[in-house]
Amino acid sequence: MTTQAGEWLLARGGRPGGTVRVAGDKSISHRAIMLGALAEGETRITGFLAGEDCLATLAAFRAMGVAIDGPANGRVVVQGVGLHGLQAPVRSLDMGNSGTSMRLLAGLLAGQRFATELTGDASLCRRPMGRVVAPLRDMGGSLTAAGEGDRPPLHIEPAAGLRGLHYALPVASAQVKSAVLLAGLYADGETCVTEPAPTRDHTERMLAAFGYPLRREAATVCLDGGGRLVGTEIRVPGDLSSAAFFLVAAAITPGAELLIEEVGTNPTRRGALDILLAMGADITVEAERTQGGEPVADLRVRGGELHGIEIPSDLVPLAIDEFPVLFVAAAAARGRTVLRGAAELRVKESDRIQTMADGLRNLGVAAEALEDGIIIDGGPITGGEVRADGDHRVAMAFAVASLVASGPVAIGGAEAIRTSFPDFLDVAARAGLDFQPMEEGSA
Ligand code: S3P
Repeated sequence: MTTQAGEWLLARGGRPGGTVRVAGDKSISHRAIMLGALAEGETRITGFLAGEDCLATLAAFRAMGVAIDGPANGRVVVQGVGLHGLQAPVRSLDMGNSGTSMRLLAGLLAGQRFATELTGDASLCRRPMGRVVAPLRDMGGSLTAAGEGDRPPLHIEPAAGLRGLHYALPVASAQVKSAVLLAGLYADGETCVTEPAPTRDHTERMLAAFGYPLRREAATVCLDGGGRLVGTEIRVPGDLSSAAFFLVAAAITPGAELLIEEVGTNPTRRGALDILLAMGADITVEAERTQGGEPVADLRVRGGELHGIEIPSDLVPLAIDEFPVLFVAAAAARGRTVLRGAAELRVKESDRIQTMADGLRNLGVAAEALEDGIIIDGGPITGGEVRADGDHRVAMAFAVASLVASGPVAIGGAEAIRTSFPDFLDVAARAGLDFQPMEEGSA
């Protein structure tokens, strides 16, 4: 086969140990750039994730006239232009692989006085955008998803003025909730979003940190348009979604003990932690504290034996990004794990139900894909060849599988790791794991 350097990753295992920090939180890094740009005054960010997704957001705001220094060692300084200070970009804004950039920006750009076009890579251009276009049109926004079936690119025309909306989310999506709230900053009157199940609340927490008043009652969050954001300092915690690879790595490796420092443990994100604990993982949450309005802790994990479970449906939206590696935990566990009610996994960076089921079967695991989930019978994992299908989290999940595989695991499409965890290989090496990018033609 012909490969590019880094396209294939060879994972040969190892035993996780020591103390590590993982990359900054992706969701929080995106929002820090967005709100920093729309604020009045300077915003200083530390711990920013310099992965390709967040860099796409950063580049978009630079293209709209915002002065941004960095990132340098996780430091970024944004000179906010105020809610009405963005300038029309000269060309279309390329969101790369990032659904968060495209959907949140759609909300924010729906209220601008200039037109924009949002594009992305092949994977992003397959993802549904109707879910943001519909409520934003209800607010008076002029948006069109030009791809077939409401897919990107998105064309956004200047709006005559947005109206506040009370919107009941049809799918539990933080991106849609955030898009509507960001459009609400530009709308007349009150904008409220009601969620069918809790989804990550970083937008709400960060709006509050920038001094923007919000009201929350049960499953509904509301804000009034026409306020202002004030520049602030944001310390981005480690990403629980990135930590999850190391939590599972250590949890399934006998004798492992790993401490992961300064990880965000926001209750709307900690589903993976609760699922692993239910599977019998030995994880302790230490030194819990609050940092810039977000809960943070150190996570200590020791290797042991996991057992399969039926994943409670209320944990699904709270663990939505961690399922690829949770499926690896299930493959390494004793007994059967069943996931249902997770059809959203089919429209992520890849169809994560299919890519994971295919790859696990290549490694000798009994995995049955369901329309909205998967059934995995834990058992021996062999070495073999799997494809990440350009999906960063699938690539890292299969690297973790190598820790308990009887032979090396070769992972195609692993360069996608840059999307969310560019220093994954360095952190893995520090934790004692043996993952090697393969050179061109060496696969
Ligand atoms: C995100 C929300 C989730 C998640 C994505 C990041 C966010 O997507 O999967 O990785 O930052 O708001 P959905 O809103 O589509 O569930």
